[in-house]
Amino acid sequence: MSFNIAIDGPAGAGKSTIARSLARSLGFIYVDTGAMYRAMAYYFLKNRIDPENKSGIEDACADVDITITYENGEQQVLLNGENITSQLRKESVGNMASVTSALPAVRIKLTQLQKKLAASTDVVMDGRDIGTAVLPDAQMKIYLTAGTAVRAKRRYEELKAQGIDKSLESIEKDIRNRDYRDMHRDISPLCQAEDAVLVDTSDMDIETVLNTIRRIYEEKKRS
Ligand code: DC
Repeated sequence: MSFNIAIDGPAGAGKSTIARSLARSLGFIYVDTGAMYRAMAYYFLKNRIDPENKSGIEDACADVDITITYENGEQQVLLNGENITSQLRKESVGNMASVTSALPAVRIKLTQLQKKLAASTDVVMDGRDIGTAVLPDAQMKIYLTAGTAVRAKRRYEELKAQGIDKSLESIEKDIRNRDYRDMHRDISPLCQAEDAVLVDTSDMDIETVLNTIRRIYEEKKRS
């Protein structure tokens, strides 16, 4: 039976950095489910499918093929055979994903794919509903969070390093809006699973977070 680690939490809490690094050190596969929601959003944007257009969204979900592969250990997302990984981190795609990830057809499609990936492989999977809906029986669950201001500052620094100039205020506003949408949608809203361990990274550097989570893993393996 595969060993599954679920990491959930709001945008900017450091999930992907931590999950990727943890997976590498344990020899597990890292599955970034946000990238799958972003891939669907990219398709809707590219084909001008309005999130309000229910039948358009449902038809697209039936048509679109999303495949996950790995290159040098890095997750690649193929949309109908085309590698679109480099397109997925754009703000426009992230904002669309935050809206379209609330749609039932999108969630059903991607949840199926995610369950299948974890069934036969040891994974560290990160997202918003992994511990609650996708892998409710995961052997280990972490809810990774940080204060809104801290998350906004981290995103600001990340964008600055990429030469993108966006005000801290507008980033913080985006994060608040995204949190609200993720936490208040009808299906699988973001929340801490009852059996998840809360890790608040506001005052931690990456190494401290990783050591904390590795300790939790060692305890789980012993029990
Ligand atoms: O983690 P991220 O920013 O790449 O995720 C993009 C959007 O997808 C985010 O607004 C919430 C949504 N998402 C989700 O609803 N469920 C997941 N398991 C992962 C992401």
